[in-house]
Amino acid sequence: MCGIIGFTGNTEAAPLLLDGLEKLEYRGYDSAGIAVIENEGINIIKSEGKIKNLREKIAKSHTPKGFIGIGHTRWATHGKPSDENAHPHYSKSRRFAVVHNGIIENFAELKEELVAKGYIFHSETDTEVVAHLLDDCYDGDFFSTVITMTKRLVGSYALGIVCKDVPDKIICVKKANPLIVAVSDKGNFIASDITAVLAYTRDVYTMQDDEVAILSEKSVEFFNLDGEPINKEIEKVTWNVDAASKGGYEHFMIKEIKEQPEAIRATLSPRITPEGKINLDGISLSDEQIRKFKRIYITACGSAYHVGVVGKYVIEQLARIPVEVDLASEFRYRYPLVDEDTLVILISQSGTTADTLEALREAKRRGARTLSIVNVVGSAIATESDDVLYTWAGPEISVATTKAYSTQLSLIYLIAIKFALATKAITDSVADELIAEILTLPEKIEQIFELEESIKRISERYTYLHHAYFIGRNLDYAVALEASLKLKEISYIHSEAYAAGELKHGTISLIEPGTSVIALCCTERLVEKTISNAKEVMARGAEVLCVTTEDNRSCANICDYTIYIPKTHPLLMPSLEVVPLQLLGYYTAKSRKCDIDQPRNLAKSVTVE
Ligand code: G6P
Repeated sequence: MCGIIGFTGNTEAAPLLLDGLEKLEYRGYDSAGIAVIENEGINIIKSEGKIKNLREKIAKSHTPKGFIGIGHTRWATHGKPSDENAHPHYSKSRRFAVVHNGIIENFAELKEELVAKGYIFHSETDTEVVAHLLDDCYDGDFFSTVITMTKRLVGSYALGIVCKDVPDKIICVKKANPLIVAVSDKGNFIASDITAVLAYTRDVYTMQDDEVAILSEKSVEFFNLDGEPINKEIEKVTWNVDAASKGGYEHFMIKEIKEQPEAIRATLSPRITPEGKINLDGISLSDEQIRKFKRIYITACGSAYHVGVVGKYVIEQLARIPVEVDLASEFRYRYPLVDEDTLVILISQSGTTADTLEALREAKRRGARTLSIVNVVGSAIATESDDVLYTWAGPEISVATTKAYSTQLSLIYLIAIKFALATKAITDSVADELIAEILTLPEKIEQIFELEESIKRISERYTYLHHAYFIGRNLDYAVALEASLKLKEISYIHSEAYAAGELKHGTISLIEPGTSVIALCCTERLVEKTISNAKEVMARGAEVLCVTTEDNRSCANICDYTIYIPKTHPLLMPSLEVVPLQLLGYYTAKSRKCDIDQPRNLAKSVTVE
């Protein structure tokens, strides 16, 4: 997803902008650019591809000299990745330069209007409309021009704007797209997220929708769209630079896989009292309110949706409340059957995923109670939900999620137990046992890390693989969905997950000698059934890797390879089972020399539909 950085201060802007853009690389992008105000005017340099292309281009021309500028990493929406479509964009007069995250929904009609007035467009982007519109609205005053222009926009935007007539000020404005303002002794920044500025400061303001900020070297002022000043509180970011860098690992993904025990401990510890009881800080629901829910919906995207699939099995089994799980992009348009007797749980690492945010709003419109599980404090989904439980996973940089998935799972378990106690579907002693077992998960995950070398060796067999099938039943199936996504998104191997019982209804026809099947056999009561399916595919030539618990030693005699993992309560097995499969995906992608942290065409945070 696109990234924004901007700086005005007492030191040259270009190096800081390029550094900030590199910190934003993890968001996924296909072109990058910077605009710096120099003596002669605004100088824009931009390039398709990685930031190193931009650096090379700058090195070949000249490094813009100036103390104020804006920068952008673009993930194509309107128009292909190209130098022309990269941001920043000039206005016709070159008085303004603009960077933009989001989508201007009325760009076609604005463009038609501007073309009729003689504006010439050099790109296919919706953003260029903003730049020319600034010229069109120009009244001699930078601030009031931005306000007039913004009022013409429909859609979502985080905009960073510079004006050559005011060579010490950046103005930014936002709607439905994240933007922060950060202050430091070098000067002041705008950024789409804090990672871009963590090396310089931890003091930030989170911009809300329809707020405008004016930044100069020494001051930051906030206004509403009526031009009235607003007071905002500065927030201290506790994430340190180390937490946002690779910490000695080759990739963020492996670093984040290894951070899972700590992240789970951090997520659990404030929620479990020393007496072993659940205390869900972010939930204001009484037991009576919980008992009134006739149905729970869980809705999310990507891996967060896969957490929801686990949630359905676990909450239904423990609390005996019917749970539906739905992709947010489907939920939002299906006129969902939710009302005041429904709880809608939204799961999102970033808290900004467009479809999940809209699913939340749809649920609220229909009167449902909403609870979100979010990693980014103050994000839109967190702010707009009735209740929010934060996963304390820290910043997740790798596009393929691991520690956010795991921490989301641990909160799902706590919600399930809390609800089961409220509905009296389980006794206190069952809850106590489960909680005690949950607390052992981090240590058991650490034990799984000892299998890293053998998983690495297995992954070498997958280097030239074309197709993989993950099979499992019940919770094993829920984990298969995530394991399959992990493998495919980073290694580019075609992979699918199937409920093992469905194989015979079609997919088994794809099995031929050399096909790889990964059989998940950790749901104790169904292991034999999945093993039968494994035998069926082996009889047709498939090579089978089995993931099972230490006590199922017989699997080794049946399957080609077996990964044995520690045992826990059957409902908690997903937390352990997913870890070797994350490692398998990682090492397979590594042996195929893939761009692991930034897989092609993918973005960490998907803030458009
Ligand atoms: C992208 C990420 C996934 C993530 C999904 C939902 O596709 O690559 O890792 O699961 O978005 O993101 P969210 O921030 O809402 O969890």
